[in-house]
Amino acid sequence: MINRQLKLARRPVGRVSLDDFTYEEVVPPAVADGAVLARTLFLSVDPTNRVWMKDVPQYMPPVAIGEVMRSGGLAQVVESRIAGVERGDLVFGMTGWQDYSLLRQGGALGLAKIPSVPGIAPEKFLGVCGPNGVTAYAGIIDVAGVAEGDTVVVTAAAGSVGSAAGQIAKLRGAHVVGIAGGPDKARLLVDHYGFDAGVNYRADDFREQLKAATPDGVDVLFENVGGEIMEAAIARMNPLGRIALCGMISVYEGRGTTTYDWAPIMAKRLKVQGFNLIDCGRLWPRAARELSQWVGEGKIKADETIVDGLEKAPEALNMLFEGKNSGKMLVRVA
Ligand SMILES: NC(=O)c1ccc[n+]([C@@H]2O[C@H](COP(=O)([O-])OP(=O)(O)OC[C@H]3O[C@@H](n4cnc5c(N)ncnc54)[C@H](OP(=O)(O)O)[C@@H]3O)[C@@H](O)[C@H]2O)c1
Repeated sequence: MINRQLKLARRPVGRVSLDDFTYEEVVPPAVADGAVLARTLFLSVDPTNRVWMKDVPQYMPPVAIGEVMRSGGLAQVVESRIAGVERGDLVFGMTGWQDYSLLRQGGALGLAKIPSVPGIAPEKFLGVCGPNGVTAYAGIIDVAGVAEGDTVVVTAAAGSVGSAAGQIAKLRGAHVVGIAGGPDKARLLVDHYGFDAGVNYRADDFREQLKAATPDGVDVLFENVGGEIMEAAIARMNPLGRIALCGMISVYEGRGTTTYDWAPIMAKRLKVQGFNLIDCGRLWPRAARELSQWVGEGKIKADETIVDGLEKAPEALNMLFEGKNSGKMLVRVA
C-alpha cells in the first residue's frame, strides 16, 4: 500500500497551484488504539480549505508548512481499532489530501459512520446530508429561526450550502430569493431548486433586480459571500431582520473588502450571528436525519461537481472561487 500525500509547501497567494504542495509517497501509518486506518474515496472540497492555508487567526489552527493538507473526506475503513466500526465501513472524517489516514471519533468533525440509505449515494453525506446540509440547516433553523412568511435571501445560492439553505427555507414556508453568478445559475435556482427568484450578481442592474425580487424587503439574510453582495442584501433588509453569517468567500483568497458600514445594521436593529459547523455536534444527528429524509423524498435536490485524481485537489479548490462548481465540489481519489 502506498500513501500519496499532498503537503503544504508554502502559503499560496491568490489562486492555488500544485507547486504550493509537495508530493510524497509513504507507507500508510500503523493503526493505533481508538483509531481506524481508512482509504480516502472522495475529498470534500470546501472554501474553508483556502482559509486553512493562510497564517491568520481562524476557528482552527492554520495548516502548518510541511503538513498534509487538511480536508474532510469520505473513506473506507481498512483496519479498525474502534469498537463498532468494522473493516469495509464507509466513514466521514478529516482524511486530508492523501490516500490513507488515521481517523478518530470526537468533535463535530471526528469520524462518523456513513449510514446506508437506499437511493442516497454515500458521497451525498459529504454535502447535503453531511457538513454542508447541516450548516444550511443550522443557519436557517437554529440561527435565523426562519418562519412562514419570512423573505429570505441566500448568497452563493447555487452552491452546496446555499442551495440547501434556500430549499430548507422554502420547506419552512418562506419566500426565498437566491443570488448567484450568471444568468444560468440564476435560472437554475428557480427551475431546479424551486426558489421564488434568482438574481445574477454579475448583471449591471443587479441591485434593481434584487429590489424587484424583494418587494416586501428582506427578513433573513443567509450570507455566504460578504463584500458588495452582502451590502446590497443588507440594504434591502427590514427592521429587526436577522443575518446568519455563514461564510465570506469573497475575502478568503486575500482579495475583496473587509471593511463595512455598520450604520444600516444599527439603524435597522439587525441581529447578526456568525456560526460554524464545529459548534453543531449536538444538532448534527437530527439535522442529518431530516436532510436524508428530505433528499430521499425528493423535497431537497442536491448536485455534485466531481473531478478525478488526488493531484486535481488544488484545481478543484480554485473552481469554487471561479464559480465553476454546481453544488458540492468533490475530488474522487479512489
Ligand atoms: N459556517 C460554517 O460552518 C460553514 C460550513 C461550510 C461552508 N461555509 C461557507 O459557506 C459558503 C459556501 O460554501 P460551499 O462549500 O457551499 O461552496 P459553494 O457555494 O458550493 O461554492 C462556492 C461558490 O461561491 C461563489 N463565489 C466564489 N467567489 C465569489 C465571489 N468573489 N463573489 C461572489 N460569489 C463567489 C461561487 O458561485 P457563483 O458562481 O454564484 O459566483 C461558487 O460556486 C462559503 O462561504 C463557506 O465558507 C460555512
